Amino acid sequence: MDFYDLVKHRESVRDYDPARTIDGVVLNRILNAGRLAPSASNRQPWTFLLVSSPEKLAEIRPCYRQPWFQNAPHVLIIVGDKSRSWVRSYDGYNSIETDLAIVMDHIILAAEYENVGTCWIEAYDPTMLSEAISLKENEVVYSITPLGYQNKGYKKLANKQRKPLEDILKII
Ligand SMILES: Cc1cc2nc3c(=O)[nH]c(=O)nc-3n(C[C@H](O)[C@H](O)[C@H](O)COP(=O)(O)O)c2cc1C
Repeated sequence: MDFYDLVKHRESVRDYDPARTIDGVVLNRILNAGRLAPSASNRQPWTFLLVSSPEKLAEIRPCYRQPWFQNAPHVLIIVGDKSRSWVRSYDGYNSIETDLAIVMDHIILAAEYENVGTCWIEAYDPTMLSEAISLKENEVVYSITPLGYQNKGYKKLANKQRKPLEDILKII
């Protein structure tokens, strides 16, 4: 698929087929795209936590109570280690959140290429999630995504509500 078409047609999926898991080879390709993401000073301060077992899914699902989320056959949690990420010497800015956003975006675009649905989620209960995955002191999570195939009969909304370029572009 052409890259610009992919970007245009990707959309958040909120309707998953719980019975259709993703083949390991496909998952590998998607996660590998994340592995290749850039990070500040190439620190790669991340771990990909792929939740696929029914037991662990049952622990993760209550962290985000939307009914459609309960049906996703996989949930990906990007865990960052803020003690390993790059820190700007001038002001102490830590690049961890930027690094993790880039990884997630790579993965979401790769999933689209594989016809696998995703939805960037930040409105989960962070306390519940931290406990469910036993997050350590130096570890952070900013976003999670379901990974799965759309339910039968799912139709893309194809309703990109975006500001026109001329409203957001300034050439100086
Ligand atoms: C940082 C971030 C956080 C988001 N959090 C949620 C969320 O908690 N739940 C949800 O359903 N969608 C969430 N979304 C998805 C956005 O609502 C969605 O990307 C936006 O409305 C544009 O729609 P599209 O992804 O279909 O193009 C989030 C997206 C981003 C980038």
